Amino acid sequence: MAMELKIQTTKTFENAYNCEKKIQLHQGSARSGKSFAIIQYLIVMALESKQLISIVRKTFPALRTSALRDFKDIMGDMQIWHDDYWMSTEHTYRFPNGSVIEFFSTDTAEKLKGLRRDILWIDEANELSYEQYFQLAIRTTGNIIVSYNPSFSPKHWLLSEVADGNDADVLNAIQQGYNIATVFGIKKTLPMPESYLGRPVFNGDESDLRFLDPKGVVVGLYAKGKAKKDTSGFVKYPTIMLQAA
Ligand SMILES: Nc1ncnc2c1ncn2[C@@H]1O[C@H](COP(=O)(O)OP(=O)(O)OP(=O)(O)O)[C@@H](O)[C@H]1O
Ligand SMILES: [Mg+2]
Repeated sequence: MAMELKIQTTKTFENAYNCEKKIQLHQGSARSGKSFAIIQYLIVMALESKQLISIVRKTFPALRTSALRDFKDIMGDMQIWHDDYWMSTEHTYRFPNGSVIEFFSTDTAEKLKGLRRDILWIDEANELSYEQYFQLAIRTTGNIIVSYNPSFSPKHWLLSEVADGNDADVLNAIQQGYNIATVFGIKKTLPMPESYLGRPVFNGDESDLRFLDPKGVVVGLYAKGKAKKDTSGFVKYPTIMLQAA
């Protein structure tokens, strides 16, 4: 069944639609049209072929009054919203072609390590931790769309880990079963962290025979020489949360 939709779009929509990179970063100030354009793009993707699309934000109350509300409005404006297709308990919209758009927040921890999806949009992604982003990203087979308002430190993980362009390669490597190596800024006399990014850490400094490494691990290396003073994000420092009484 052929269907024609006429929608008013912006440059941001075109950027998203024509982007050939796995990870899209949409950086822009408040009310600059990011959410609107990304929702239009996700609806078009859902209509074009069968896709499982996740729309994620840190908290559900925030998601409900932003992306979810906008999604309902835009679907309504396009005259394709059907109450019957909306499962309010699961926060899921099912299209007639089998595409599904689900809304969830990272507060629901089990959702982070749940099912794989085709397309992921994280709105206000700076509110998430890198670990949360990574758990979602690694379970996404297709495009990852990340939007944020850049009013945070230039050391934020979004800029140091994702915007530097290396992240898509790392995700691809892991999804294809390759190991990734990470340099940890800890003294050689101390043990490696037990796990990193949800995978066991294998001490890579014990031998140089990388092909002997077990599969599905992060190969941990101790920072050497100049790397000991690295603050660019190349070297990872173990962190600990200290709770004040
Ligand atoms: N293509 C469009 N057609 C009609 N209205 C639009 C369009 N794009 C944006 N708008 C209007 O601009 C408003 C702001 O856009 P949007 O919410 O997408 O901005 P944003 O960049 O996500 O902002 P924030 O950083 O505050 O989340 C929307 O509520 C909508 O009214
Ligand atoms: Mg927005």
